[in-house]
Amino acid sequence: MLKVDKVSSGYGDVKVLENISFTVDNEIFSILGANGAGKTTLLKTLAKLLPVNTGSIQLYDDVITNTPAYDLPAKGLAYVPQENNVFPDMSVAENLSLGGLLDPLSRDKQQEEIYSLFPRLADRKNQLAGSLSGGEGQMLAVGRALMQNPKIILLDEPSAGLSPKLVDALFEKIQQIRQSRNVTIVLAEQNAAKALEIADRVLVLSLGKIFFLKPAKDLNTKSLKEAYHI
Ligand SMILES: Nc1ncnc2c1ncn2[C@@H]1O[C@H](COP(=O)(O)OP(=O)(O)OP(=O)(O)O)[C@@H](O)[C@H]1O
Ligand SMILES: [Mg+2]
Repeated sequence: MLKVDKVSSGYGDVKVLENISFTVDNEIFSILGANGAGKTTLLKTLAKLLPVNTGSIQLYDDVITNTPAYDLPAKGLAYVPQENNVFPDMSVAENLSLGGLLDPLSRDKQQEEIYSLFPRLADRKNQLAGSLSGGEGQMLAVGRALMQNPKIILLDEPSAGLSPKLVDALFEKIQQIRQSRNVTIVLAEQNAAKALEIADRVLVLSLGKIFFLKPAKDLNTKSLKEAYHI
């Protein structure tokens, strides 16, 4: 369970998020909003890569408002950034083993599980991550995060730059991960239609504030268009 209470944050003097409150638990929770709405800022704040100016964040039994980012994997939180989310000069296998917090034996087992989830990665074990296609790279980034065996995973626009077919494949995997590994997923997305297909609830950000938070089934195109100012 992740509980965000009246959080404000930004970049130094630049205030981006204002008074954000919500709780995420056992679901696919999608964060939508136009370019610049604050999705990445919100995920970076939750991953503790940006300081929390006001408010608090609770992760399961711990208040993590002032916890350093490097302590979060051990507390069950994994974060996949929007860009630069793999080490390009390392192989697929090396990227995965770096993600593992576990002892070498269970790390190997965990790695095999990732390969069965993403067979394309298994075929490319020894290939440098920098030479993967966009979709393969996103799968590797998600796989690397899963190596931490997280309870909650923050995904920042994993579909960015992917062809519709690859987006479908990736979203299917995200759903599969949610079901088979019982991981809570926080998914920031530009691709609203796609996110609506798999999300349980949707938070729409507009100019750094919550525009609305609703179950995905209650949403229609009209309300989304308003939030995107189109
Ligand atoms: N390093 C930074 N310094 C100052 N302002 C920043 C910085 N990074 C982002 N911003 C500003 O914060 C606001 C929110 O940006 P953010 O990256 O969170 O948006 P986003 O919703 O993720 O957009 P996108 O869909 O384009 O990824 C924007 O106005 C942006 O210009
Ligand atoms: Mg972003």
